[in-house]
Amino acid sequence: MPLVGPKEMFANAYAGHYAIGAFNVNNMEIIQGIMEAAAQEKSPVILQVSAGARKYAGQGYIMKLVEAALGCYPDVPVCVHLDHGPSFEMCRDCIDGGFTSVMIDGSHLPYEENVALTKQVVDYAHPKNVWVEAELGKLAGVEEHVQSKEHVYTDPDQAVDFVKRTGCDSLAIAIGTSHGAYKFKGDAQLDFPRLETISNKLPNYPLVLHGASSVPQEFVELCNKYGGQVGGAKGVPEDMLRKAASMGVCKINVDTDIRLALTASIRQYFTEHPEQFDPRSYLKPAREAVKNMVARKIRDVMGSSGKA
Ligand code: G3H
Ligand code: 13P
Ligand code: ZN
Repeated sequence: MPLVGPKEMFANAYAGHYAIGAFNVNNMEIIQGIMEAAAQEKSPVILQVSAGARKYAGQGYIMKLVEAALGCYPDVPVCVHLDHGPSFEMCRDCIDGGFTSVMIDGSHLPYEENVALTKQVVDYAHPKNVWVEAELGKLAGVEEHVQSKEHVYTDPDQAVDFVKRTGCDSLAIAIGTSHGAYKFKGDAQLDFPRLETISNKLPNYPLVLHGASSVPQEFVELCNKYGGQVGGAKGVPEDMLRKAASMGVCKINVDTDIRLALTASIRQYFTEHPEQFDPRSYLKPAREAVKNMVARKIRDVMGSSGKA
């Protein structure tokens, strides 16, 4: 099947109280691991490409890898999405390059500028049938072009105004998640009353949760056991993600867990096989680790198994 946009995926997810996993891709092994998992679980999937991934791999390479994946798994609905698009120009390049969905991230801008930039992307994307995700509120932590020390949670009334004025198709909200492996100093806490209010004020509207890795401790422990230094890493508990998925969150973003699964596997392999230097010897189990992590997440967190 050709690449699809997320419209039907999200409509079904919203009605069925589950979410679609949006997994960040940077190279062939990651794409293969995610696609093997989605095919095994018979789940729709979003492959998302950040500005950093475009810079690392090249948009052309990534799109050819995705094309190859579509050929290998014709029954899996796949959407290719630009993650945290920093500018109109990058969104335009991705739309022209065949992406079926883009995110314009104006969350760091003053409100009126975020509205104007998002609307500019929507006006370009919609005639070409491309979906637009936008962001309102600020996640603490570091993204490639956006740094924020403090969370600025999404204001529910502003969210309604923003969606109405921009025409964006889905909205990433800030309710306490953050990017990376260190999400909470103490107990994990998300502002579910705020999510409920936003969801009620925007009925039938797909919300997006960024910074939603659960940072499985098994990978943290493996990394640290084999020479890593990722002490104190903490993610969003899985039951909170499932709860969010039942409250209008249709897209759950995962990057950090992929990095951890891959790196834990490679660290272990290098320690246990110091004589090996064929990249295929360690990338094969690393790809398998990504596949197993993604399959479990699709099954137990997203709830999207069997929905392809
Ligand atoms: O939200 C950020 C994603 O994890 C992508 O990270 O910009 O380092 O590729 P990146
Ligand atoms: P994590 O860092 O929690 O995996 O979040 C990824 C993300 O939001 C990508 O946009
Ligand atoms: Zn993000």
